[in-house]
Amino acid sequence: MTINVESVGISSACSQGVCSKGPELFSIVSLGEELHSVRSERYGETFHPKVGPQVEARCVYFQPMQIMQRLETAQDPFCVWDIGLGSAGNILNLIREHRHIRAHLDLHSFDMTLEPLLFAIRHVGKLPYLEGFESILEVFTRQGQVTFTHGKLSIQWHLHLGDLRDGFDGPSSKSMPPDAVMYDPYSPLKNPELWSLPAFSRLRRSLVSAATLATYSRSTSVRVALLLAGFFVGQGGAVGEKEETTVAATQDGLIDFLLDEQWLAKVRKSTNAEPMTDKPYQRGRIKSDTWKKLVQHPQFVPYSLDAALY
Ligand SMILES: C[S@@+](CC[C@H](N)C(=O)[O-])C[C@H]1O[C@@H](n2cnc3c(N)ncnc32)[C@H](O)[C@@H]1O
Repeated sequence: MTINVESVGISSACSQGVCSKGPELFSIVSLGEELHSVRSERYGETFHPKVGPQVEARCVYFQPMQIMQRLETAQDPFCVWDIGLGSAGNILNLIREHRHIRAHLDLHSFDMTLEPLLFAIRHVGKLPYLEGFESILEVFTRQGQVTFTHGKLSIQWHLHLGDLRDGFDGPSSKSMPPDAVMYDPYSPLKNPELWSLPAFSRLRRSLVSAATLATYSRSTSVRVALLLAGFFVGQGGAVGEKEETTVAATQDGLIDFLLDEQWLAKVRKSTNAEPMTDKPYQRGRIKSDTWKKLVQHPQFVPYSLDAALY
């Protein structure tokens, strides 16, 4: 059920003719059992489908990246990049879920627009994860940064507004290399530029220390792009009807279930395995050269696979 469709101004986001310039429309959708999520009508994307913001954040991001364990042992501020701030579901649930841990969080949220968050704030009654954060959100949306405590956590939260297709390094990434990245800028279908090999290669270059990345997508093409960009890649958590999502890292020791030989066998058969590189972004079988690079990835070297695809 969709309630409350609102137009909240003009957004510049547009790709591949999926949308044309015009007012961005958001709605609150009911997911049942008193759960709700924000939906972008223009992109046709519900931000937290099926399970809602809290369970999605836990299953897709916190558990696969072992945030709790890493936060408990962190010596320095633990830095998280929140790519696709949206309605702030992931980032506020991150704070809520770990409030019992005495630690410093250095949070950086990236988005091209504050529209979904401002819409969500107007519907706080349906989105309980926002409750209690109203005055913090007021400062954050007005000033672009806020410092506060929540439970035992002390938190610095920064906003980076801009189009990520221009790169991830608007603010100097070297001054805040992340420990963990929550990657949630819509989907490969809706904005392929941010799920392409060039995009993941740019992002990988910004991760100058040990870091993990988790995302909702389990697309073969996205996983191959992450691997060729220099990440180690594994199975992320199950969520809703999805049996698995994806977790990646700059070091293999940070991932529990690395993709293996069986996954490579699927890559050979998949009709959507070649990473997206340039417009027009198309699905396709893996090319010979790509396969050769893939089997040489350190993650797959132990399997001594044949570099010849056909
Ligand atoms: C699915 S929503 C994110 C939901 C959010 N993580 C949450 O928990 O509420 C995707 C977000 O990515 C942002 N986005 C999409 N393309 C972008 C781009 N090229 N640059 C910056 N942000 C982008 C959208 O504006 C939108 O807010």
